[in-house]
Amino acid sequence: MFQKERFIEDCRAALKDPDTHAAIRELVARVVSDPADVLRELGEPERAGVETIYRADDLTILNLCWGPRMTIRPHDHRMWAVIGIYGGREENTFFRRNEQGLKQHGVKVMNARDTAPLGASIIHAVVNPLDQITAALHVYGGDFFATPRSEWDPTTLEERPYSVEHTMRAFEDSNKLLKSA
Ligand SMILES: [Fe+2]
Repeated sequence: MFQKERFIEDCRAALKDPDTHAAIRELVARVVSDPADVLRELGEPERAGVETIYRADDLTILNLCWGPRMTIRPHDHRMWAVIGIYGGREENTFFRRNEQGLKQHGVKVMNARDTAPLGASIIHAVVNPLDQITAALHVYGGDFFATPRSEWDPTTLEERPYSVEHTMRAFEDSNKLLKSA
């Protein structure tokens, strides 16, 4: 049975594993293999937003709910990450740096029960292609909020320091759509 406190303990224990990233992936995969169990603990998502389940220097656990059709511009993390979807669908577009800024090099569609490990150097953009909320657990190998990172302008693909405001505005716009629906 999924429980936040237990999950935090399991993730903290996995930090001592020689292959932490793989151990966390396994943990997240096990949790999202039963979406109903996750919903029982975290609640049925009704709003777009982010809930910090745990935050420390070496580990961040987020419950992220993407609103309908919400898009997150290209960004990096500078730490390993594991994403596990427990509701809806998430489209990840991956990029690599080049002379122009960024070049697209792959797309990965994730559905409920899917888990993906992301390396520390990956750059991705995220879209919720559905008219419903997409809900995901995100685990990061560091303090996600305190680490300086980059984002890229979605049109010019110019790199600049990550702005949490853009993400918060995307959540707000998404919630306005939810309210008017
Ligand atoms: Fe990301």
